[in-house]
Amino acid sequence: MSSLQVLCSGLPLRPLPENRGRRAGVPHAPVRTPGLSPAEEQLALRNALRYFPPDVQELLAPEFAQELRLYGHIYMYRFCPDIKMRAYPIEQYPCRTRAAAAIMHMIMNNLDPAVAQFPQELVTYGGNGQVFSNWAQFWLTMSYLSQMTEEQTLVMYSGHPLGLFPSSPGAPRLVITNGMVIPNYSSRTEYEKLFAMGVTMYGQMTAGSYCYIGPQGIVHGTVLTVLNAGRRYLGVKDLAGKVFVTSGLGGMSGAQAKAAVIVGCIGVIAEVDKAALMKRHQQGWLMEVTDSLDHCIERLREARKRKEVLSLGYHGNVVDLWERLVHELDTTGELLVDLGSDQTSCHNPFNGGYYPVQLGFAEAQSLMASDPAAFKSLVQESLRRQVSAINRLAKENFFFWDYGNAFLLEAQRAGADVEKKGANKTEFRYPSYVQHIMGDIFSQGFGPFRWVCTSGDPQDLAVTDQLATSVLEEAIADGVNPAVKLQYVDNIRWIREAARHRLVVGSQARILYSDQKGRVAIAVAFNQAIARGKIKAPVVLSRDHHDVSGTDSPFRETSNIYDGSAFCADMAVQNFVGDAFRGATWVALHNGGGVGWGEVINGGFGLVLDGTQEAEQKARMMLSWDVSNGVARRCWSGNRKAYEIICQTMQDNKGLVVTLPQEVADERMLQQALRL
Ligand SMILES: NC(=O)c1ccc[n+]([C@@H]2O[C@H](COP(=O)([O-])OP(=O)(O)OC[C@H]3O[C@@H](n4cnc5c(N)ncnc54)[C@H](O)[C@@H]3O)[C@@H](O)[C@H]2O)c1
Repeated sequence: MSSLQVLCSGLPLRPLPENRGRRAGVPHAPVRTPGLSPAEEQLALRNALRYFPPDVQELLAPEFAQELRLYGHIYMYRFCPDIKMRAYPIEQYPCRTRAAAAIMHMIMNNLDPAVAQFPQELVTYGGNGQVFSNWAQFWLTMSYLSQMTEEQTLVMYSGHPLGLFPSSPGAPRLVITNGMVIPNYSSRTEYEKLFAMGVTMYGQMTAGSYCYIGPQGIVHGTVLTVLNAGRRYLGVKDLAGKVFVTSGLGGMSGAQAKAAVIVGCIGVIAEVDKAALMKRHQQGWLMEVTDSLDHCIERLREARKRKEVLSLGYHGNVVDLWERLVHELDTTGELLVDLGSDQTSCHNPFNGGYYPVQLGFAEAQSLMASDPAAFKSLVQESLRRQVSAINRLAKENFFFWDYGNAFLLEAQRAGADVEKKGANKTEFRYPSYVQHIMGDIFSQGFGPFRWVCTSGDPQDLAVTDQLATSVLEEAIADGVNPAVKLQYVDNIRWIREAARHRLVVGSQARILYSDQKGRVAIAVAFNQAIARGKIKAPVVLSRDHHDVSGTDSPFRETSNIYDGSAFCADMAVQNFVGDAFRGATWVALHNGGGVGWGEVINGGFGLVLDGTQEAEQKARMMLSWDVSNGVARRCWSGNRKAYEIICQTMQDNKGLVVTLPQEVADERMLQQALRL
């Protein structure tokens, strides 16, 4: 078994590690089907071999070629380290700067088999959210980080560590770009080829930026979403006896089972992959499992009658479940479901993100590799069937929403009936959870703020939980507007219950939603606690890219931008750049993420708090920009709430001056001018 010292000392070449190939008993990524030409295959192989000296290339070449043939990608399984992959306490990493050790802590968490979806293929979540493209990149990155000084910055090109470049102590230690492909060539087909050639990579949102914190991140969002859906659609505060049906128990989607229990309803979640289902069951996030549809319906009926709190995993295809619910409605008149969504990986529907109902799991995996065109046609037919069943139920008192996975977008492309008459092109027959259910929180600056205690000590996490709670309570006591107060109160309740629900998987991390003031105040409180020794080691601040300013995504985060700029990505790019020079320890900019390749540009950051004055200063500067950028953009696009927030922020923050939109209210003037 390697040690961290070995892991950080460069590619193991003398001797080469034994090639043990794909490990059994670990979930593996579906076979990719890049459709490379012979010349492109040669390029892929050449690209992979350039990490290795000539004397080992002859041995590695046939092995890598075999991986390309069998799996559609060169992962370099031989170099998958034999160390137990997990977030080790920060002081155990060999390093010359603690910022680099904190980054290593985050990288290893993203690859921890308890956290990662396909750990040997370096996929953290979302089916294809890569941390790196191959294992050589992992080894080199760890080695660069362990040698890096405060005067250097590591540059990552879509998984590839380009090298350490001279910079300054105030600059980011790490700059990551993932999937930055020239727009005209950013199609899905091109992506498959470029990934197979090892030159680009899909980093999802937090996989390729090393900021994933396990499914806890989305449990929080799902709890608030289901609660608010109950309030809004069913008019109830108490969800006891209400049924929420959905699909997916994977990386992010696995959170749905836990969230159903936290909100006190009955969650029935279909999952085709037994390994994913059992992982959640063994983790205690899924209470019961069944592979019988009859039993599933029987159990659901019983739980409904008794108002039991239940999470039930159905091992099978979600289309079968939806169609069975229609059958029950048609034959007994009983509507067995109140709320519904979908969290299959529809951002990547034809390469293993969505399994069509016509095929078994293994059969589907084989067809997607052997006949991608036939597979695609089955996926589209399956999506049409799924929507048709949902449409039937929605004629009754049943409410469905899109959960940010591009389900409705792909269903529309497949020809399903999801049209909303008279709406603009980012709207469908069913709402997207971001605006309609969560409310316009981004305009108020609220978003998924998170932190990781790099000591790895649960006691440190408990201290941060207490500090965050007190900060929000004090803010309420000082007086905040009612909308902000409601958010703070919901989040205080969340954080109090979080420890009880044992949400930590992997690193000692926590998430909550906060606005700019709250984020800054929490960061300052943590930094002071580190300085006083109340928290033992640095804390990494970060967030999901799914936030106020981090993401330009016309079908999700920016779907309520109505000035025509929803398809522009200036905000996310500016965010990445602005965070970099205001104090982030690392920054990342991604193509894709959430809704899929080519559909979104998003970025994120990591900021290491180490108890110093400089860290506090950086946190104040960077977090303020990180939120007010997006609020100002929303204000400019005509959002009234964002206008009020940014005016208030301008009063509170010296140096902030924003161009405010003038009202253009005279409709007649516009019409007249256009007639001229
Ligand atoms: N709402 C959000 O805030 C949010 C956040 C992150 C990710 N997402 C999106 O949600 C989707 C899911 O993310 P993930 O990390 O859980 O992905 P994942 O690939 O880990 O999990 C999806 C699961 O769906 C299962 N599945 C696929 N087709 C199925 C079918 N027809 N019936 C039953 N099960 C099926 C797969 O086996 C897989 O386990 C992605 O598209 C992701 O981009 C949304």
